[in-house]
Amino acid sequence: METIISLCKRRGFIFPGSDIYGGLANSWDYGPLGVALKNAIKNEWWKMFVQKRLDMVGIDAALLMNPRVWEASGHVATFTDPLIECASCHARFRDDHVTKEDDGSWKCGACGKKNGKTVARQFNLMLKTFLGPAEEQANTVYFRPETAQAMFVDFKAILETTRKRLPFGVAQIGKAFRNEITPGNFIFRTREFEQMEIEYFVRENEWEEHFEHWLTQVKAWINHLGVHPEHVHYVEIADEDRAHYSKRTVDVEYDYPFGQKELYGLAYRGNYDLTQHADHSGKDLVYTDPDNQSDKFLPHVIEPSFGVDRTVLVALLEAYHEEQVGDETRIVMKFPFWMAPVTVAILPLSKKEPLTELAQKIAQHLGGDFRVEYDETQSIGKRYRRQDEIGTPFCVTVDFDSLEDKSVTVRHRDTMEQERVLIDNLATYIAEKMKG
Ligand code: GAP
Repeated sequence: METIISLCKRRGFIFPGSDIYGGLANSWDYGPLGVALKNAIKNEWWKMFVQKRLDMVGIDAALLMNPRVWEASGHVATFTDPLIECASCHARFRDDHVTKEDDGSWKCGACGKKNGKTVARQFNLMLKTFLGPAEEQANTVYFRPETAQAMFVDFKAILETTRKRLPFGVAQIGKAFRNEITPGNFIFRTREFEQMEIEYFVRENEWEEHFEHWLTQVKAWINHLGVHPEHVHYVEIADEDRAHYSKRTVDVEYDYPFGQKELYGLAYRGNYDLTQHADHSGKDLVYTDPDNQSDKFLPHVIEPSFGVDRTVLVALLEAYHEEQVGDETRIVMKFPFWMAPVTVAILPLSKKEPLTELAQKIAQHLGGDFRVEYDETQSIGKRYRRQDEIGTPFCVTVDFDSLEDKSVTVRHRDTMEQERVLIDNLATYIAEKMKG
């Protein structure tokens, strides 16, 4: 993790948040390369799960919702973690995250003392704020702890405006907030994070086949991310650990450097959420079969839920490679081509015109189709090393011959092989290589 965190800071993927003010614990800012990587992931997810499918639509709902939403969903009453406090230094921990010593005692992770801990109390994870100038109970609202609920709350409006028929799904990408007791492990667990979620509405008697379909889709997405299959585990959640309304939940877990932990979740939620919102709002959220008006029911739901930041973390961990090249160790981020924050680097061999002029023209031309970086600083060797470290699949070197033969040298990240390509053919050449 230290290697990845340091590379992220050094190269501008992810920085500690509010750093010049001494930071804010467990907050992280995505830098220029980080935002490009994250956007590439979010765009690809949207393309795969919304754009390419006729049975999916998207929304982008408000982050602050009527607080009654969270009463109906059960979050006010039960979205809690068990909180304990060290009797000596009063440091706080999540009871289910602490481990016992070999002798069965508990040792504080902050002060190291074994003076005992308080009895666990349930701590609600929702972050509160107040709307308007008065900080009163009546004005309390919550930052959404998941994107999911808006897809249930807006269900009827989506149905009426899109005239979708079952089965169909709604997708959303956006921020969620949780007042985690023990955030940590870089961007693995933070208090502010992003989710990509789907609520897929089905008939009750068809939930099992749709669950299988979505499990296949989650696997296809993970494969598309380039994750080694042996690093991923699909864990069936036991009856006693599942929410009471769920008949099946699969946690997708990944082998992080700090252990096997959750990456994504896939849950069958029955029609719990629509039932709750219909009851609490008093509104009719029933689906009517367009071919049989007497067939009315509250659809059931399959929910695949993906964390954006955990996806970024896994992408970084999977991409990191160290290779021996001669006497040197080459650090290379082998992102899938579609994901790389920079697709093409344009590197003129000299800082002088007319070479820079030609190189900038090529950069501008390619910039319409690809994520392009132009770099004329330092030696070409150092520039290649930098591009390897940020995972750029193609480095295009513009040299003095380019002025004559109207060609450039393309260096491939993974093989380090070089090819001469006509400038006029460059965009098509890269597009072909991107297809694989
Ligand atoms: N709507 C279902 C739901 O929110 P969840 O398992 O609580 O389920 C879904 O969260 C995903 O969101 C997780 O699998 C994880 O990828 C991501 N996630 C949850 N809490 C997070 C946190 N504190 N920091 C970063 N990602 C988080």
